[in-house]
Amino acid sequence: MCGIIGYAGSQGALEVVIDGLRRLEYRGYDSAGVALLTDQGLAIEKRAGKLSNLMNSLAGRPLDPSTTGIGHTRWATHGGPTDRNAHPHTDCEHKLAVIHNGIIENFVELRQALEKKGHEFSSDTDTESVAHLLEDEYRECNSDLAEAMRRVCRQLRGAFTLVAIHVESPHQVVGARRNSPLVVGRGVDENFLASDVSAFIAHTRSAIELGQDQVVDLRPDSIEITNFDGTPAVTNEYEVTWDSAAAEKGGFDHFMLKEIEEQPRAVNETLMGRVGIDGRLILDEMRLSDDELREIDKIIVIGCGTAYHAGLIAKYAIEHWTRIPVEIELASEFRYRDPIVDRSTLVIAISQSGETMDTLMALRHAREQRARVLAICNTNGSTIPRESDAVFYTHAGPEIAVASTKAFLTQIVAAYLVGLYLAQVRGTKFGDEISEILTQLSAMPAKIEQVLETMEPVRKLANTLKDKQSVLFLGRHVGFPVALEGALKLKELAYMHAEGFAAGELKHGPIALIEEGTPVIVTVPSPRGRSIIHDKVLSNIQEVRARGALTIVIAEEGDESVINFADHIIRIPTCPTLLQPLLATVPLQVFACEMATIKGFDVDQPRNLAKSVTVE
Ligand code: AGP
Repeated sequence: MCGIIGYAGSQGALEVVIDGLRRLEYRGYDSAGVALLTDQGLAIEKRAGKLSNLMNSLAGRPLDPSTTGIGHTRWATHGGPTDRNAHPHTDCEHKLAVIHNGIIENFVELRQALEKKGHEFSSDTDTESVAHLLEDEYRECNSDLAEAMRRVCRQLRGAFTLVAIHVESPHQVVGARRNSPLVVGRGVDENFLASDVSAFIAHTRSAIELGQDQVVDLRPDSIEITNFDGTPAVTNEYEVTWDSAAAEKGGFDHFMLKEIEEQPRAVNETLMGRVGIDGRLILDEMRLSDDELREIDKIIVIGCGTAYHAGLIAKYAIEHWTRIPVEIELASEFRYRDPIVDRSTLVIAISQSGETMDTLMALRHAREQRARVLAICNTNGSTIPRESDAVFYTHAGPEIAVASTKAFLTQIVAAYLVGLYLAQVRGTKFGDEISEILTQLSAMPAKIEQVLETMEPVRKLANTLKDKQSVLFLGRHVGFPVALEGALKLKELAYMHAEGFAAGELKHGPIALIEEGTPVIVTVPSPRGRSIIHDKVLSNIQEVRARGALTIVIAEEGDESVINFADHIIRIPTCPTLLQPLLATVPLQVFACEMATIKGFDVDQPRNLAKSVTVE
C-alpha cells in the first residue's frame, strides 16, 4: 500500500512532506517522490528505490521554496518500480501533479480514450490516466480543482486515494477516496492529508477520516469535504490517541493483526482489473503466447512454507479447470529430485517476497531445463518475477509480519486466476463458466469480512488451549492444505507442536497420537459440494472423538450435521468448495496469533525466523 502526504500551510512544504514520508516508510515501498507549488511553477522530484535516493537527488538539485506540496511512497502494482513510474504524475502541460494509492480498474480504456484525444503518456502506471483526466476536467470546469476531481472520480472504477495540486491554485490540495484510506489533519493555519495519521501526528492530532466517495478541498485555513456528486459530506472529526508506533500498525497491537484485517481489501484488490474490455481475463505481465500455453502438458508449482501450501490448494482448482496434471513441490526439494521438466512444462513459482533463495534456485533449475516459468508474487520488480517468463502480481500490499496471512489468501486467488486464464486460453472453460467463477470470487471479500467479525470465540478458545502440548489439524481435499497452514501458523507463532494431516491418513498412523483432551481442529467441507468428502470428514471427527479428542470444527453456516461431534464449532459463510480455504484459514490465523499473544511472544517477529529467507 502506498504512502500519501499532502500539506498546505505556512511551514516549508518539502520538510513537512519528507518527514511525513519517513513516517510512512513502514508501509513498504519501492519508489518515492514529491511535488511542490513554487513561485516558479510545479517542482517535482521522484526516484526509484528508498527515500535516500530521493534525498540525494534533492541535495543535488534543490527545489524552490514552497508552502504547498504532496509526497508519495509507491508499492508498485501496475508498472515496475522505476523513476518514470514513481509518483507524482503530471498532465501534458506539467501544471498539475497527482499521487495515488490503490488500483484504477478501468485505466486501460481511459488511457486509450485519452491518447486518442492527443494526451501523451510517459509511464506504465494506471495513475497517469488520472493526471490527464484531471487536465481535461480542470479546463472544463473553469479551473476548479475540487470540481475537476469530483468529475474524474465519477469516471473511475476500482479502489483509489488520490491527492492533487495545480499551479494555478497555489495554496490548495485536493484529495479523494474510494475503498482506500485518506485522513485529514487539522492544524492551526495549516492542514494535512495522509494515507494514515502517522504521517502528521507530529503536527496535529485533530483528524477527519474521509468517507467513501468523498472529495476534500484543503487550504491552510479551510477544509471542505463533499461527496462525489458535490453535496456536502457528513464528516467525523476525532482526536488521535495513538502514538506513532501504534499509528503505523493502524491502531492494532501487531502488524499481523492489521494484515489479517486487511485480507478482504487485499483479496478485492488482487481481483481488480483482471478482466479486459473484451471480457477476457488478463494477467500482469504475460510474456508467454497463447500457443506456448496451449503446448503445456504439465504444471509444477514450487514454493516454500505458506507459499507451498497455496500451491497445494491451487492444484485442486487448476487440474479441475484445465485438466492439466499439476505437481506441487517444495522448492528446496525440487532440483535435487532430478525433476522431469522440458519445454512443455510450466513451472509456477509462488513467493510473497520474490527473493526466497530456495524458490529462486528451483526456478533457475527449471529454466535451465527449458521450462517456462510463471511467477505469482507480491513484490513488484523482485528477483523471482524478473527471472520469470510471466508474472501475476498479488495486490496484498506490503506484508510486514513474518507470519504470512494476507499474502497467502491473495496467492490462492492469484493461482485460481492463473488457472482460469489457462482454461480460457486452452478452451477447457467457456467464457460464461469463467465469469461465474469470477462472480463467486468477487463475493469472497465480504465473506472474509463476515468471518473476521466473529472471531471472539476463537480468541477465547486459544486461551482455553494455551497449556496444551500439541494441536492436530485435519482436512480433506482443499481442506488438507488448510490444515497444514493452520499447523504452520501455530508452530511459527506460539512455538507449539502442531501437525496437519489429510483426514484420511488418520487410520494409517497419526490416530495413535490421540489422547484424552488432545485438541483436534477439523475443517469440514461444504455438504453442498461433494457430500462424500463431507461425510468422510464427519466420520474422521467421530474417530478422534471416540478416543478422547477435544474436537474444534470449522463448518459452514447451516451444516447441522457437525453439532453432535464438535466440542467447539467455528462457523464460516457458505461458499463453493474450491473457495473455502479463503474462509477456513482465517480462524486458524487468528487462533495462532492470539495464542502467541497470550504466551507473550513477539507476534510480528517470531524467534529464529526472517520475513524473507534469502539463503538456501
Ligand atoms: C509463513 O508464515 C512464513 N512466513 C514462511 O513459510 C514463508 O511463507 C516462506 O518463507 C515463503 O516466503 P515467500 O512467500 O516470500 O517466498
